[in-house]
Amino acid sequence: MPLDRPNAPKLESYWMPFTANRQFKAAPRLLVAAEGMHYTSADGHQVLDGTAGLWCCNAGHGRKQITDAVSRQLATLDYAPSFNMGHPIAFDFAERLAAIAPGPEGAKLDRIFYTNSGSESVDTALKIAIAYQRAIGQGTRTRVIGRERGYHGVGFGGISVGGLVNNRRVFPLIPADHLRHTHDLARNSFVKGQPEHGAELADDLQRMVDLHGAETIAAVIVEPVAGSTGVLVPPKGYLERLREIATKHGILLIFDEVITGFGRLGAPFASNFFGVTPDLVTTAKGLTNGVVPMGAVFASRAVHDALMTGPENAIELFHGYTYSGNPVACAAGLATLDVYESESLLTRAAELQAKWDAAIHSLKGAANVVDIRTIGLIAGIELSPRDGAPGARAYDVFVDCLAKGLLIRVTGDIIALSPPLIVEEAQIDQIVSTLGDALQRAA
Ligand SMILES: Cc1ncc(COP(=O)(O)O)c(C=O)c1O
Repeated sequence: MPLDRPNAPKLESYWMPFTANRQFKAAPRLLVAAEGMHYTSADGHQVLDGTAGLWCCNAGHGRKQITDAVSRQLATLDYAPSFNMGHPIAFDFAERLAAIAPGPEGAKLDRIFYTNSGSESVDTALKIAIAYQRAIGQGTRTRVIGRERGYHGVGFGGISVGGLVNNRRVFPLIPADHLRHTHDLARNSFVKGQPEHGAELADDLQRMVDLHGAETIAAVIVEPVAGSTGVLVPPKGYLERLREIATKHGILLIFDEVITGFGRLGAPFASNFFGVTPDLVTTAKGLTNGVVPMGAVFASRAVHDALMTGPENAIELFHGYTYSGNPVACAAGLATLDVYESESLLTRAAELQAKWDAAIHSLKGAANVVDIRTIGLIAGIELSPRDGAPGARAYDVFVDCLAKGLLIRVTGDIIALSPPLIVEEAQIDQIVSTLGDALQRAA
């Protein structure tokens, strides 16, 4: 991409996140505009968004309804303090979220705590869980359980329960332990939806109890479908079993729905999709269609109410952010919910499921493809690595697809797809054919 244009940005000052900075700056890839299903790159090409940005622009890009709501809010109330002061739109948004909250009617997780990102939602949920245990007289429960290959953002809590060694190895961690991951290509491969084998891996939570003592464990957190670590779909019965064991031992169950929330699986939340209700749900990304940073933790009334004790003039939870419930973010969120509802986007993935599954699984047999997994509007396509160069093949496919006008995401040698939920069938075909050609060239 030519950066010798007069208005091209200088690249040194911006220290990019989760990026090989020197490699990127030697061959930068810049996006300058977005509309609907497409980005425009700095050199003027249209790029089909196969990843909804970073799993967040569920309603696609440049949605006028959201843009208008944000600019109206900016002109009306741009900011208001979040501690000890309120503003109506934060309450309005919470009420709307409560109405679609995960959980069955009458037992929805309809108490909403605002954050600014997925990482903050995770650390908030872990803190709520520990505070809850203490509030009910279980103050020894301070350990948190995550899962190998889990990604829960980059806060100290999130990396402690996360299961990616590169995110953990240089940093101190809070007391945590990990269930084994459920990825098992020997027993489950090329599966549409949930794999048959592996429910018994949920018994690892029982092993944690046997090893550490239930009285030390506050919560267990999992992504219902692991996204960032390569699209790992829970085996049939796994989440149900985790719920059962957590309940039996007084351990709170947290679903990290930063990716799966807001329609990604064809239901508003993965909790609805799998029919398993956790105690806390973390969200971000699709909450505002990605356009203004925001996250939210959904808590059950039991968890919330346990903390609403003590003198009425006492702060119940010593936690919060300057931008919790930021009015502009709430305006974006409310308009996003309007778009989701008017276009039935929270269930559209279910309508596209058969088409998506068939199209993506048609790549079975393509060069070096060792597995394909699909659920909702998500696909993971796992490649065999090049000898001595893990990740290189998928990276080449990523660069090749971009040159051909398709944005995909890679993690190691796994390609992840998660287009905006407005994707058309012809665009699904385009994703598959562009990707198929790139796989051939990377062989
Ligand atoms: C499941 C999950 N949790 C947490 C996060 C962290 O979110 P953020 O990058 O907004 O902090 C992510 C980001 O991809 C995620 O996928």
